[in-house]
Amino acid sequence: MLRLVRFAARSPARRSISYRALFDLALEAIMFLDAESGVVLDANPAACALYGYSPEELIGTSRLSRSRSEERVFDPIADLRAGGVTMRHFFMVDYRRDGSELYLEINASIVRHRGRELVLAFHRDTTQKTMMARKLAEAGGDWQLSIDSIQEAILLVESSGRVIRVNEMAANLMGDRPGSGERHLSDFGSAEPWRRASELVAFVAEHGSALSSQVDEVFSGATWDVAATPATSASGERRVILVMRDVTLMASMEASLRRSESMAEMGRLVSGVAHEVRNPLFTISATLDAFEKRMLASAVTLAEPYLLHLREAIERLSTLMRELLELGKPSLMQVSTESLLNPIGDAITDVAQLAAEKHVTIVNRVTPESARILMDRSKLAQALSNLLENAIHHSPAGEEILISAQRKQTMGQTWVLCSIEDRGAGFAEADLPRVFEPFFTKRKGGTGLGLPIVQRIIQHHGGRVIAENRTGGGACITVMIPHLVDGEEG
Ligand SMILES: Nc1ncnc2c1ncn2[C@@H]1O[C@H](COP(=O)(O)OP(=O)(O)OP(=O)(O)O)[C@@H](O)[C@H]1O
Ligand SMILES: [Mg+2]
Repeated sequence: MLRLVRFAARSPARRSISYRALFDLALEAIMFLDAESGVVLDANPAACALYGYSPEELIGTSRLSRSRSEERVFDPIADLRAGGVTMRHFFMVDYRRDGSELYLEINASIVRHRGRELVLAFHRDTTQKTMMARKLAEAGGDWQLSIDSIQEAILLVESSGRVIRVNEMAANLMGDRPGSGERHLSDFGSAEPWRRASELVAFVAEHGSALSSQVDEVFSGATWDVAATPATSASGERRVILVMRDVTLMASMEASLRRSESMAEMGRLVSGVAHEVRNPLFTISATLDAFEKRMLASAVTLAEPYLLHLREAIERLSTLMRELLELGKPSLMQVSTESLLNPIGDAITDVAQLAAEKHVTIVNRVTPESARILMDRSKLAQALSNLLENAIHHSPAGEEILISAQRKQTMGQTWVLCSIEDRGAGFAEADLPRVFEPFFTKRKGGTGLGLPIVQRIIQHHGGRVIAENRTGGGACITVMIPHLVDGEEG
C-alpha cells in the first residue's frame, strides 16, 4: 500500500507535523487516486467508514470511474487533467458496500508526487441533504398537484392586492399561464368576481377576520362565492388567501326551486282568485255604474270622493287580476322587428301621469339608430312600464329617471342593453336575490308581481334582466335582449 501522505512532510519546516495523523484523524473522507486509472491509492478511516469498506477492500479499487455521476457523461479525472484544471468541485452518486446510494459532494485536485499525477479527493456525504431536498420537492410537487386539482380558484395575495401565488384554476380565471408575470387584483377593474375579491381582501387586511360573500357576474350570469381568509407568511407578513368558487349552477337551481315553488302556489292562487274575485269585482263595478246613474246629480256630487275611492279600489283589484293572469297563462308572442324606441315611447306614455304626480322626469337617451330587435311590442312596453313605475315609486320628487341603451358583445352574440336608472335609495342588498320572486314586495300598496312579469317577458324575448345598484346611489335595472344583426331582420 502506498503511503502517499508522507510526501508533504518532506518540507523541512513542517517536518514535525505528522500528515499521516492528520489524514487519519480528519473527519472528512479523503482519498488519493491514481489520475491515470482512477484506482484508489489511499483512503483515510473516514472514507472507509463512509463507504462501509475496510481500507484493504477500498484501496486498489477504481472508485470515481465506476460511480454514477449526476451529469450524464462525466469523467471528473479526465476533466481535471484536461486544460490545466487543478481543482474541481462536483457532485456524484456512488454506492456503499451494502448497496445503498451515497450522494457525494467532492472537491478534487491534481497533485504531483514523484512524477505521478494523483487525485486528492475530499468527499462530503450529502445523502441526507439530497434525500430531504428530494422529499421536499416531491411534497411541493404533490402539494401543487393537489392544489391544482381543486376546482376552485385559490390565490395567495398581499394585503395590497398583489397576487403572490395561484393554483391552475385561478390562473385560468386570470387568463394567465401559471407562473406568468406579476398581477394585482386591481388589474381586473370592476369585473366580477375580482372587484368583490378586492373588497374582501381590503376588509380582511384591515380587520384580520375571514369574510365570504356571493356575487353575480352580471353579463355572463355566473354566480361566484368569494371567501377571504387572513394568513401570515413564515416571515411574519400579512397575507390573504382567496378562494373563488363558481356556484352558478347551485344558485340558479336554488332560484329556480324558489321560483317553481312560488309558481306552483301562484298557479293555484290564480285559478282560485279568478273565480272568487273577478266575478264579484265585475258585479261591484256594474252596480256602481247603475247606482251612479240612478242617483240625483246633487247626490253624485256629494258622493264623488267616495265613488272615486271605490273606483280606485276596483281598478287596483282589476290590475292585480290582470297581473296574476299575465303570470299564470302561457304567453303568445306577437312578434315584429322594431326599434327599441317604440316600446320605450309606449311605456313612457303609460307612466306619464304617475311621473307627473310624483314630480319625476323621465329622460330618454336612447337614440333612433340604437337598436332594432325582434319583439312583442306591447309586452316589451309592459315590461318597460313596470320598470319605469318602480323607478318613479322609488325616486325622490324632482329627480330624473334615465333610460339608456347600448350594444354589447358577450356570450358569443350581440345584445341590446337597455338600462333604467333612478336616484332613489336603490335595492336593499339583502333583497336583490329575491326581487324577481312573485309577491316579493317592500312597497306599500305593491303586489310584488311587477318584476316577475318583467322577467318573464324578457325571458320570452331570449334575454335577461339584471337588477343592481348604481355606484352613485339608486337602482339600475338592465334589460338584455339579443340584437338583430344585419340580414336577420325580416
Ligand atoms: N327602482 C327601485 N328602487 C328600489 N327598490 C326597488 C325598485 N324597483 C323594485 N324595487 C324593490 O323590489 C320590490 C319588487 O318590485 P316589483 O315591481 O316586483 O313589486 P312592487 O313594485 O312592490 O309591486 P307591483 O306588483 O305593483 O309592481 C319592490 O317592492 C321594491 O322593494
Ligand atoms: Mg313594481
